[in-house]
Amino acid sequence: MKYVCSICGYVYDELKEGKSFDSLQDSWTCPWCGAGKSAFRAQGEPRTAPDAGKESGEKTQRSEPVLHDGDMKKLSAGEISAICSNLARGCEKQYKNKEAELYRRIAGYFAAAVPDEPEADMELLSGLIKNDLQQGYPDLRTAAEEAGDRGTLRICVWGEKVTSILNSLLMRYEREGENFLKNTQIWVCTICGFVYVGDQPPELCPVCKVPDWKFEKVERRVSA
Ligand SMILES: [Fe+2]
Repeated sequence: MKYVCSICGYVYDELKEGKSFDSLQDSWTCPWCGAGKSAFRAQGEPRTAPDAGKESGEKTQRSEPVLHDGDMKKLSAGEISAICSNLARGCEKQYKNKEAELYRRIAGYFAAAVPDEPEADMELLSGLIKNDLQQGYPDLRTAAEEAGDRGTLRICVWGEKVTSILNSLLMRYEREGENFLKNTQIWVCTICGFVYVGDQPPELCPVCKVPDWKFEKVERRVSA
């Protein structure tokens, strides 16, 4: 039997490895992208929407998308900043450097207006990520399918993969604490946001397939 990583496509072949997939330790991770065992599915099995609560046994109801006629949601400064920074990356990828620079400036302007979040902690972050996986992306995909918006559907594919791996990394951090990040580095793909923990970035981003030089090392903040 073969098992495929739903994040990066790595194939675990039980015959070649001489070990059944089930017998691998729970802490085993995908050698390409670092995803946990729960990100794997038996080859040939139909794709299902990622279930962020799988590892912790949670289950939530999927809600229907809510549409407001002619009423665009008001965005916070942080959301505008994130969107503009993504647009800057998109322009960069298409070698539109002037436009990229303008988007970066707008992103910086709004980032400076983002208020401090005094309640921010792991629990809040982890809740937001799980909500994106269980509700945000499925709702967005449904709306994009209804609107025939192929661009947004592509965003869903990348976004879900990147968010799933982030969720899996956070769960490992919760389990292993600082030991998880000891003597290693954190890398972020500047194109799709894929986060990788390892000494060197992967040769190719398993999500968007750009080469390793598109990865940036995350420098740790020194607390004052
Ligand atoms: Fe990437």
